[in-house]
Amino acid sequence: MRSRLVVLISGGGTNLQALMDAPQDAYEVVGVISDRSEAAGIARAVARGIPTDVVIPSACADRAEWDRVLADAIGRWTPDWVVCAGFMRVLGPAVIAGFPWRIINTHPALLPAFPGAHGVRDALDYGVRVTGCTVHLVDSGVDTGPILAQHAIAVDPDDDEATLHERIKVEERRLLVNVVTALCAQGCTVTGRKVSIP
Ligand code: GAR
Repeated sequence: MRSRLVVLISGGGTNLQALMDAPQDAYEVVGVISDRSEAAGIARAVARGIPTDVVIPSACADRAEWDRVLADAIGRWTPDWVVCAGFMRVLGPAVIAGFPWRIINTHPALLPAFPGAHGVRDALDYGVRVTGCTVHLVDSGVDTGPILAQHAIAVDPDDDEATLHERIKVEERRLLVNVVTALCAQGCTVTGRKVSIP
């Protein structure tokens, strides 16, 4: 049976698109949630007939309520896995506890370097010659969960944030689809910071 995937997005949704476009023997995307009503990725889900929801923090009394509302929204679709694909907010305790080691995030840098919202810009500003992307399980920290897979990308001398991010995203989409497919097909075991996919 295919795993049920709920995907969280904030923006353009090209990673979501890659997940929807890949041959889906291992999983099906059963719902897409955004924290922004204007996120372009919503239209990508609608075009596929996939149900969507928007859970906006400013519509909630506080962060704790947003966390609970988001956990309920995700839970309604009874997912096996939750994928943060360009979701630009830190998940709260209700979501993390609701789906232990069942939440996957993709990040445009080689963690633990350059976590947070500006991974590409921070790597460029630091002057690294190599950066990349990381797919990892989500814990309660900011991009601190156990690492599932990484891909390195060389920084060109004339890269700016946009050109570098675009190159990273080409590999990131491939990596994310491969990891999600493997997890859905085989599951994983977490021992300390190490994750093994049988
Ligand atoms: C991706 O590069 C993802 O790693 C990044 O946002 C982009 C979303 O692209 N996420 C973060 O920076 C989270 N810290 P997309 O909307 O086209 O999939």
